[in-house]
Amino acid sequence: MTTEKDRILIFDTTMRDGEQSPGASMTHNEKLDLADLLETMGVDIIEAGFPASSQGDFEAVRDIARRSKSSVITGLSRSKLEDIDRCGEAVRHAARPRIHTFISTSPVHMKHKLQMGPNAVLEAVGRSVAHARNLVEDVEWSAEDATRTEFDFLCKCIDAAIASGATTINVPDTVGYTHPDEYGGLIRALRETIPNADKVIWSTHCHNDLGLAVANSIAGAQNGARQIECTINGLGERAGNAALEEIVMAFKVRGDTLPFETGIDTTRLARASQMVSRITGFPVQYNKAIVGKNAFAHESGIHQDGMLKNTETYEIMKPEDVGVSKSSLVMGKLSGRNAFRDKLASLGYELDPDSLNEAFRRFKDLADRKKHVFDDDILALVDDQLSAMGERVGFDSLRVIAGSVGPQQADLSLRVDGELLEASCTGNGPVDAVFNAIRKIVNHEAKLDLYQVHAVTGGTDAQAEVSVRLNGEGIMAVGRASDPDTLVASAKAYIHALNKLEARRMKRLAA
Ligand code: KIV
Ligand code: ZN
Repeated sequence: MTTEKDRILIFDTTMRDGEQSPGASMTHNEKLDLADLLETMGVDIIEAGFPASSQGDFEAVRDIARRSKSSVITGLSRSKLEDIDRCGEAVRHAARPRIHTFISTSPVHMKHKLQMGPNAVLEAVGRSVAHARNLVEDVEWSAEDATRTEFDFLCKCIDAAIASGATTINVPDTVGYTHPDEYGGLIRALRETIPNADKVIWSTHCHNDLGLAVANSIAGAQNGARQIECTINGLGERAGNAALEEIVMAFKVRGDTLPFETGIDTTRLARASQMVSRITGFPVQYNKAIVGKNAFAHESGIHQDGMLKNTETYEIMKPEDVGVSKSSLVMGKLSGRNAFRDKLASLGYELDPDSLNEAFRRFKDLADRKKHVFDDDILALVDDQLSAMGERVGFDSLRVIAGSVGPQQADLSLRVDGELLEASCTGNGPVDAVFNAIRKIVNHEAKLDLYQVHAVTGGTDAQAEVSVRLNGEGIMAVGRASDPDTLVASAKAYIHALNKLEARRMKRLAA
């Protein structure tokens, strides 16, 4: 028997709420790439930024709106009319624009953050929504800190928002305070109390401070919410937001008791997770549900034995369902260009002819040095190539003396604005020597905030993937690179971060 399923709209806020987590900033081009992937994946609504917060955010929302085809594109705005105008200006280029406006409604936020009384807040709700509604047809209103708001006052505010033309009402658990019974009960009570509740779509937005964001969002859906706000990898303020991949797969796997469906192509979840992790430099926890490296790994003998007999013994979903290919061993040095292009297409990349040639050259190079080339190797290779495109400082070559007899030394050459520059430096270990050499060639004050190394795949010939976070005058930038040689990957990651930092600094100066 097939049960009728209700459609849940997936609202992705990785580029807005996600980007608000400290250190998770994204460049303009990274946002465009991510938006493209989210749209192809079937995300219904993409919150692309907070247009009034900076010129960069405005331009990102505007350019994502211009390229969008099917997804609704929205930006966040406070209740100030200038913010709403700015947001309207950014999203108006979208095929389906939305303005998302919010104001705090809880006593603690009204008193200490807004320094406004309830009447003034109520008045701002009506005014802001009506103003937004004059600019676009699709207006979402959020009651910030709704779960700590007095119920009667929340009803009054929502009532005012609906009367002024809001089409979606969002009930955020801003501080991750609620739990499933309570949150589900709140959504139900609001829908039963507010007279025009059936005229709008109800939405959840749950933070993860108590680790309950996904459970709370699902409880919201069970009680009538039909939009869920979430982020890839659960990125977001503090402990993060509800993880998109977990919600989508919970509905897919447990359709028997959770009769909901989404429009998400789940085979792109792993790719989206890797992309967000690469862009932000936030590693995905190994045991993270759905997209963690170990999510489909079976280590113990008993489990392996069960899996060999029947995969259903220990797997409730197939790795392929979330885009983790079963046999990810892909190609060797004899693989041809067409096979390589097909492989890239299956991984979600369509490169122009020049970029394809360059990627193929890099692949051959890697296949010469590494026995087995896996999907993850190819993803790392292409991501590296794309992120290094058009950068001012480029890697040329590196030779390092390492080992227990010091001093460790790095002889490095970089291309800076097309000119080849060289430096030799020693350091407290080979990585320090490499970074000292970069500093000698490209003089800068930025401090190294984070240095991380992961193996892209298993095996001693695995590529090292290095993340570097630099912090210069309050501007942060994450660089990532991979190479079979950890020190080369380290140099490239540092250079990548440096280029991003410079681009951001220039942008700030221009603004
Ligand atoms: O957490 C929150 O309350 C928000 C709103 C502004 C939607 O992010
Ligand atoms: Zn939030």
